[in-house]
This record gives sequence, structure tokens and C-alpha cells, in this order.
Amino acid sequence: MTSTDFANRLTAVAADSEALLAHLLDGAVLPGETARPPRLLEAMRAGALGGGKRLRPFLVVETAALFGAPRDGALLAGCALELLHCYSLVHDDLPAMDNDDLRRGKPTVHKAFDEATAILAGDALLTLAFDIVAREAVHADAKVRIALVTALARASGIGGMAGGQMLDLAAEGRFESKRALSENEVVTLQAMKTGALIRFACDAGAILGQADAAARASIAHYGAAIGQAFQIADDLLDVEGDSATLGKATAKDAAAGKATLVSIHGVAGARAKLDRLIAEADAALAPFGSKANILRATARFIAERRS
Ligand code: IPE
Ligand code: IPE
Ligand code: MG
Ligand code: MG
Ligand code: MG
Repeated sequence: MTSTDFANRLTAVAADSEALLAHLLDGAVLPGETARPPRLLEAMRAGALGGGKRLRPFLVVETAALFGAPRDGALLAGCALELLHCYSLVHDDLPAMDNDDLRRGKPTVHKAFDEATAILAGDALLTLAFDIVAREAVHADAKVRIALVTALARASGIGGMAGGQMLDLAAEGRFESKRALSENEVVTLQAMKTGALIRFACDAGAILGQADAAARASIAHYGAAIGQAFQIADDLLDVEGDSATLGKATAKDAAAGKATLVSIHGVAGARAKLDRLIAEADAALAPFGSKANILRATARFIAERRS
């Protein structure tokens, strides 16, 4: 798997995701809905369309492919996850949270619209994600769909992304006096705020492919390693990256007093940890042999990405 092969496959899933997301966010009113207020729809589209690496749908599609699950259902489940990820970004950028003006090279949703609209756009992206992941087109077997719904809820709620965002803000010393977090505390916080959705992406492919317990455990191990690696790379990019390439502001974490592995171990220490995690992700894929080369390339991409 050359880096060009990998880039071509990621580009293909990103293009397919963009088209599907645009369709899911068109103005059509669904059975059970009453109307789609245009301002809210435009804000949701601003938060979800026209940007992003689409790494989470890619992970769903590629792990599903490893287990022989059909691509269409995996892409739909991946887009549900992407909508939920986009909601997390819209809310993460709000003035009450990270207070960012730039996301994916464009004004954040609360800048382009207003705060109340951005809050509601996040709410509606989140709930649309569950509408979509429950659809029959994701998988014919309702038991498989219920497993996905449950896993997505747990990955995104109090014990996952939202809980991790709470710990992230608490670590800034917002709610009580600030204290230094231990490495384990940072790892837990990041496993929740970022790792949970990435682990879900990998698990979703295994669920869709009805993988056996041993294979599912191997994929879970891979997902945990790349999930941790992903946030370390994000934190390194906040220090070393270029805002124009990243499409978001840099040098924000130290200014906010965020607890990261970069703040604990420095840039070199965090990069060494990142390299160890990529090796761990690679080792977790051993049972799948060369069939998992695309997932190995994904781990390398996560470590080496510039945006
Ligand atoms: C950014 O995620 C937020 C984090 C969890 C660190 P991505 O880097 O995947 O953002 P997009 O979707 O490509 O814009
Ligand atoms: C975001 O972490 C995690 C989310 C759940 C959105 P960051 O706050 O570091 O993400 P960026 O740097 O704003 O993309
Ligand atoms: Mg944040
Ligand atoms: Mg942020
Ligand atoms: Mg960041």
C-alpha cells in the first residue's frame, strides 16, 4: 500500500461522503418531521459540508471492507458518525467552549450565523446521526442496527465524547482551582473526547461485518491506539502546525492551559509516544495479515498528517 494508493482511497470515501451528506442535508421533509427551517438547515450544512478529512467515515468503510460488509451500508453509517463528529466541532468552537473563529478554513458556525443557531445546528446534527444509523439501508438485520445505535450513543455521550469534553474544560481550571493532570488523567480524557468516536468508527465496521469476538477485540485494540494517536497528533499540530494548512487556529492549547501529552512530555516526548502508538496499532492488525494494509496506512497517516 503506497501513500498514493492510500490517498486515492481516502479521497474516494471523502467524495462519496460529501455527496451523501449533501443528500442527507437537503431540504426534503421526512415522514414524522413537520418542516425544516431554512436557517437551521443552512447552519447544519455549513457545519457538515465542504471540508474535513472524513477520516471517521473512511475508518467505518475500510473496517467494514475487512470483514466483507457491503460498502453502501458502511458509508451511510460512516456519514451518521461524521454528522455527530461535525456537531461536536460546532459545539467545541462555541465561545463558551474553545471560542474559535475558524474551522475547516471557514468561519465557525456561530460566526457565520449566531450562537443560538450554532447550538441548535449541533443539536440537530446529533439527532440526525441517530436517525440515519437506525435506517434499514445501514444493515438489513435490526439487531445489527441496534448494536450500532447503542455503541454510537455510548461513544458520544457522558461516558464518551461529551464526558471527555467536560473533563477537558475542567482541566483548564474553569470550575475549580487548576491542578496539574497526571498522564493517566490526560489519556483518559483524550480517550473519551476524541478516542471514543474513532474507536466507534472501527467497531462499527466490525459490527456491520459481524466479526467474531477475537477479530472484534483486535480491531478494538487498533481503534484505541489510533484514537489516542489522533489527539496527540492534533495537539502537536496545535504547537507545530500551520493555521492556513490546518484550517483552524493554532497555539490555542497552551494559551488556554489545556492538559495534553505535549504539555506534559514536550513535543519530542509526545512524538515518541505517537510513534509507539502507531507500532501498537500495527501489531494489533497482525491477525489480518496484508488484508489490513489500508488500516496500517491509516495509522501512519494519522501520525504524519499536516491537516
Ligand atoms: C478535529 O477532528 C477534532 C478532534 C477530535 C481533534 P479532525 O481533525 O478529524 O477534523 P476534520 O473532520 O478533518 O475537520
Ligand atoms: C476536540 O478537541 C475534541 C472534540 C470532541 C471536538 P480539540 O478542541 O483539540 O479539537 P480542535 O483542535 O478544536 O479541532
Ligand atoms: Mg476542545
Ligand atoms: Mg477545539
Ligand atoms: Mg486541538
